[in-house]
Amino acid sequence: MTQTTTVGSADLVLRQIEAQAENRFLPIIGPAKGKYLAEEVRKAKPTRVLEVGTLIGYSAVLMGKEMAPNSELVTIEIHREEAKVAGENIMKANIPAYVKIITGNALDVIPTLEGTFDFAFIDAEKSEYLQYLNLAEPKLHAGTVVFADNAGVFADQMADYLEYVRNSEAYKSRYIQVGEDGVEISQKIK
Ligand SMILES: C[S@@+](CC[C@H](N)C(=O)[O-])C[C@H]1O[C@@H](n2cnc3c(N)ncnc32)[C@H](O)[C@@H]1O
Repeated sequence: MTQTTTVGSADLVLRQIEAQAENRFLPIIGPAKGKYLAEEVRKAKPTRVLEVGTLIGYSAVLMGKEMAPNSELVTIEIHREEAKVAGENIMKANIPAYVKIITGNALDVIPTLEGTFDFAFIDAEKSEYLQYLNLAEPKLHAGTVVFADNAGVFADQMADYLEYVRNSEAYKSRYIQVGEDGVEISQKIK
């Protein structure tokens, strides 16, 4: 008897990007930390997600795959070429979420965004994490989960961000070590 395994197009795109990332040293979140990201999105059931740092769309596909139809993922990428490739990968992945890619500097773009976000994934310039969060805060609400990548290897560059989410009364924050790196998951509580 032969057994066939059906791999959805999103999974296929994720595996292709993982292979490219390994060859070209692209800093995608990857499958190990990505498992936590997907799990948090699955738990939060967000209608609207903000991503800072698209690169070529790996984390956007990973999150968008867990989101419901009619949900929206807004992702910001400073480099035009990366944003273009991300658009192609996201199209191929055929995920349920509608994805809007904005090319620009997140520091300029975030203040122009309308509406609120139920989940945010921060993964761009490490020394700017706190600025991204502070700019996004008026658009977050109690319950919004803010997931920050590289809280292990780049803890020094992100020190102000980590200090803020860990000590602010507005957040309940936890660090998860994953291999040599880690992620900081902060839930806005007020
Ligand atoms: C670590 S990569 C993102 C990886 C992606 N989240 C993933 O896991 O597949 C960081 C990305 O942030 C982008 N970036 C850096 N500074 C930025 C800024 N100020 N605004 C928007 N994008 C920025 C970089 O060009 C790069 O593509």
